[in-house]
Amino acid sequence: MIELRSVSKSYGEGAGRVDALRGVDLRIEAGEFVSIMGPSGSGKSTLLNLVSALDLPTAGQITIAGQDIATLDDDALTLFRRRSIGLVFQFFNLLPTLDALHNVLLPVMLERKATGADRARAQQLLVEVGLGARTTHRMHQLSGGEMQRVAMARALVLQPRLILADEPTGNLDTVTGGSILALLRSLCTQHGTTVVMVTHDRNAAQAGDRIVSLRDGAIVGDEPVRRQAASSLGESA
Ligand SMILES: Nc1ncnc2c1ncn2[C@@H]1O[C@H](COP(=O)(O)OP(=O)(O)O)[C@@H](O)[C@H]1O
Ligand SMILES: [Mg+2]
Repeated sequence: MIELRSVSKSYGEGAGRVDALRGVDLRIEAGEFVSIMGPSGSGKSTLLNLVSALDLPTAGQITIAGQDIATLDDDALTLFRRRSIGLVFQFFNLLPTLDALHNVLLPVMLERKATGADRARAQQLLVEVGLGARTTHRMHQLSGGEMQRVAMARALVLQPRLILADEPTGNLDTVTGGSILALLRSLCTQHGTTVVMVTHDRNAAQAGDRIVSLRDGAIVGDEPVRRQAASSLGESA
């Protein structure tokens, strides 16, 4: 599904240059739920930005579903992002003039006229992220954690095959965060959605099938998550 080959990303030049990613090789299969962990500044968000083609690598190659994303032009990239990827980024442009329901419907409205079924689906997604009572609230009437959940519902509205989420539980209390993780988990288990989630929270990372650890722009660990049921039987995951 996703393959990174010797991917590097540097920002700036000369003495001010920051090497955010240094030769990352990573393969993620369709239907996998991968958690990316690492301390602040280790390159996690940079990695997601590159996979979503919001930014280009300085070196190396990224293919998604067999397609080298560097070969797509801007229009193709815009469509690819909207139709194939659900992006849940921390400050990913929610429109302040729209209420929660219409922010969720936005990707649909960019494709075609929204139908009653689309509105029902958007409403249902807001219920699933715990915002059933906030559908007519505008963004300034919502807390940071609530906006983050609107972004989550929006990412799911076109049923993408791939979800990229940057700290999706970062601003949430444990219970609400747990329900978001359960939602991502069920998309993966029930619909085969590929999920790549960045988090610095080891407990949240356990929702995945696999934990990839980054440090100073390089992968320093890549391990399967051992589920409780398997370990209690003394089996390896
Ligand atoms: N647009 C940018 N310009 C310059 N440096 C950047 C930019 N984005 C990120 N960086 C730097 O790259 C490194 C990795 O950042 P980032 O990927 O955001 O880390 P993380 O998400 O793991 O906290 C950091 O040192 C950060 O300061
Ligand atoms: Mg980050």
